[in-house]
Amino acid sequence: MDSHSPRPLVADAVNPAQVPTRTLYTGAKVPAVGLGTFGSDRFSGEAIAEAVKGAIEAGYRHVDCAAVYSNEHLIGYALKEAMAGGVRREDLWITSKLWNDKHDEKDVIPACEKSLKDLQLDYLDLYLIHWPFPNYHAPGVDVSSRDPRAKPYIHENYMKTWRQLEKLVKMGLVRHIGTSNMTIPKLKLVLRDAEIKPAANEMELHPHFQQPELFRFVVDNGIVPIGFSPIGSPQRPDRDKTPDDTVDIEDPVIVRIAQRLNVHPAVVCIKWAVQRGQVPIPFAVKREQYVSNLRAAVTEPLTDDDMQAIASIDKNCRLIKGQVFLWKDNQSWEDLWDVNGEITPA
Ligand SMILES: NC(=O)c1ccc[n+]([C@@H]2O[C@H](COP(=O)([O-])OP(=O)(O)OC[C@H]3O[C@@H](n4cnc5c(N)ncnc54)[C@H](OP(=O)(O)O)[C@@H]3O)[C@@H](O)[C@H]2O)c1
Repeated sequence: MDSHSPRPLVADAVNPAQVPTRTLYTGAKVPAVGLGTFGSDRFSGEAIAEAVKGAIEAGYRHVDCAAVYSNEHLIGYALKEAMAGGVRREDLWITSKLWNDKHDEKDVIPACEKSLKDLQLDYLDLYLIHWPFPNYHAPGVDVSSRDPRAKPYIHENYMKTWRQLEKLVKMGLVRHIGTSNMTIPKLKLVLRDAEIKPAANEMELHPHFQQPELFRFVVDNGIVPIGFSPIGSPQRPDRDKTPDDTVDIEDPVIVRIAQRLNVHPAVVCIKWAVQRGQVPIPFAVKREQYVSNLRAAVTEPLTDDDMQAIASIDKNCRLIKGQVFLWKDNQSWEDLWDVNGEITPA
């Protein structure tokens, strides 16, 4: 038995050794598909932890976690069980994220230590700053809710937080550090000032929101793009839905390819993501879904024509707009995303 399959694989499993990987600038390799663990206020932590256990059994080696998902303490048991069953720690890729209420210099290291304790791990493979704003709100609030202490992006403050992440690397608690929900102007400043460069940037990526400019910028700067909501997040919280949002898995181009391949349109979204070069982290608690999402990476690829057809259906439709992180009244959510190419001033 090789190191990737310490036990005989269960019937529907994918051999993890066959799952493609992406190489970070350190030379480390991240599996090209991960399991998302944000329950969107709809799925219990227990169900998600059970999915993590089942997904590792089915061949996943990459799990995308975050303190704010409030389930790391349950996922920790799933990881422990997987390792007790013979999966080696070094064959797993575990990401966690620093929540917005822990950006203060004194809070960063304890927040990471808490995630490590909850996940029952000695180190994380990747630790991200979840949002570039220190703005937070009570769980499940309406999009009109605002944090009265909310602030715009202040680079000096972001770098103070980043220095603590760099410290975590030096302490051996974290192997790589990265960014999430960033824009090109913000990343330019971080790349200019970081001692340890971001290894990955987590960003919303699906066929109707391809972010070609940011995607290219990230890749050209040696940063691995990790794509969240790769299926278009059909179960995202109601507060993140607007009437103008489009539905990737109902797009005629996606549906036509899915019919030809005899798969669900979600699987086409995952194939497209992997072939484009990002690392999708689809969420699913249903076994047939998470298995088919991983299988997507090891089965018949999309043709060049399919890839071109999907490239042409980009609708620039951001689903996770982040309204609750705005810092003043009567602002548009677009202010969070520097759409004019410059950091939105205070
Ligand atoms: N960094 C960030 O700020 C950030 C933001 C958002 C998300 N994320 C991460 O990205 C992960 C994924 O994003 P997401 O949860 O928003 O959405 P997603 O992965 O695009 O969508 C998940 C939903 O797609 C459906 N689905 C999944 N696999 C399927 C399959 N094979 N066939 C049919 N339907 C399928 C399921 O819906 P049904 O239950 O209806 O079947 C599932 O609930 C999160 O869990 C989280 O880890 C990060």
